[in-house]
Amino acid sequence: MQVVILPSAAEVGRTAAAKIAQVIERRPDAVLGLATGSSPLAIYADLAERVRQGRLRVGAVRAFALDEYVGLAPSHPQSYHHVIRRTVTEPLGLSPELVHVPDGAAADLEAAAADYEAQIRAASGVDVQILGIGANGHIGFNEPTSSFASRTRIKTLAPRTRADNARFFDAAEDVPTHCLTQGLGTILDARELVLVATGEAKAEAVHAMIEGPLSSMCPASALQLHPHALVVLDEAAAARLELADYYRYTYENLPAWQRFAPGEHP
Ligand code: F6R
Repeated sequence: MQVVILPSAAEVGRTAAAKIAQVIERRPDAVLGLATGSSPLAIYADLAERVRQGRLRVGAVRAFALDEYVGLAPSHPQSYHHVIRRTVTEPLGLSPELVHVPDGAAADLEAAAADYEAQIRAASGVDVQILGIGANGHIGFNEPTSSFASRTRIKTLAPRTRADNARFFDAAEDVPTHCLTQGLGTILDARELVLVATGEAKAEAVHAMIEGPLSSMCPASALQLHPHALVVLDEAAAARLELADYYRYTYENLPAWQRFAPGEHP
């Protein structure tokens, strides 16, 4: 796992975006895995700016969202269909028919989950999966005790997750109780993972993910199993890391061939 600690949330977004842009430059029809929530917004804004300036072409880029609430119509402003369209598809100018979100409004949710797995397989898998982390250590909506082998399925949201996401809804009870989410096994199949976390509320989960034991109590610890996982943090999210100085030293001494993009590293 490569851990990068940066002074500000803005630099976290810029640096993670440089990594994603590198993947797209190498493969113009790259398959991106998209997270929602606050954490990746700076990445999407940076990528959109690159597109606007003509530095990045995304016409052939394909994408799969991590998750969707059950029971919200795609037209609901907080459905992840809507959020992905608003924060990713439209600002970057992705082709809408190439952007996929699990169907949380399906009559048969199990079939919708199986179909989503089939669509990812048909696209030959995800090249780079963007991730945030919940304060309880979830990735996607794989709540604590999720199986490391899990695939896309229905999950019950943890009370902590519903409380954390209440900020997006008019009332706390409006937050759906269930979701469809890619499983930890699905996420681990992506060829590269990029997780971003900012703010002190994430510090404990980040510590457990990177330096704690591999445990389903911290689903994000699954990243320890992945050969190409990049974690980009601000100082507040990194505050509990015991080996923070080692991660800084490693990043400052990265050989040129390991850098994401010339001129975007210290
Ligand atoms: C959402 C998702 C979640 C979020 C996590 C952090 O698609 O996959 O795992 O990444 O809940 O959310 P924020 O970034 O809002 O703190």
